[in-house]
Amino acid sequence: MTGSELDYHRAVKAFYEYVLPYEGDPKAQLKIVHTFRTVENADRISGSLKLDDEQRELVQIIALLHDIGRFEQVRRWNDFRDSRSVDHALLGAQILSGGLIRRFVSDPRWDDVILTCVAKHSSYSVEDIEDEHVRMHLHILRDADKLDIFRVRAEEPHAVFGAVTKQGIEQGNVSEDVVRTFMSHECIRIADKKTETDSVVMIAAMIFDMHMTETFRMLKERDLPGRVFDRYAFRDAETIKKIRAEADRYIQDKCRDSLPCV
Ligand SMILES: [Fe+2]
Repeated sequence: MTGSELDYHRAVKAFYEYVLPYEGDPKAQLKIVHTFRTVENADRISGSLKLDDEQRELVQIIALLHDIGRFEQVRRWNDFRDSRSVDHALLGAQILSGGLIRRFVSDPRWDDVILTCVAKHSSYSVEDIEDEHVRMHLHILRDADKLDIFRVRAEEPHAVFGAVTKQGIEQGNVSEDVVRTFMSHECIRIADKKTETDSVVMIAAMIFDMHMTETFRMLKERDLPGRVFDRYAFRDAETIKKIRAEADRYIQDKCRDSLPCV
């Protein structure tokens, strides 16, 4: 406890109470694991930024709550695909602002930053956020979340990824537009993805929307996104080789940045 109104451990207790009804649900369990991995990643990033205790506690609480909408989503739709159900980020922010937030944080002073981060954590872009403090928290959260999405894609069975299959990913080509977007260091929009193989390149392209130097150090240490590519024997091996080399070069360069960029 920091002496402030923010208490991560109290929030964790409230989180476990909230997810208790989902105890036997394997889909929800994956999200619980993802939540705590995201908290660990976010805490390491905030340590690298030398944030004070109160801000560090806030970083952990935001990460703990970022996917709270997933539980209501699985309960009501039994589907994690936002396109087929609901925007889980907005749903989470909506549920929290309806009063749930007080179970986790007693002081309303932090509501704006928490709710904005939850609502925007999976948006394509956050360029419209002007408040520097909110932007920093959003970047920490989004980096930490993406780091764990890479882990999931490198380790979890394909059944949890929605519509894609290992075979479909291995047999397809990478679309020309997707290669072009990747090589210009831009994220790939869901609508631009034409093949199942594109979906792996789309995941790898998340590196272009990562911001903190510590995040790139973690990517390098954990051999990500390399371990995601290693799962497959791609038919379009030449294109994948080119994409992997570009990703490695980009991560290497970002690790060299001496200042954490926000
Ligand atoms: Fe999420």
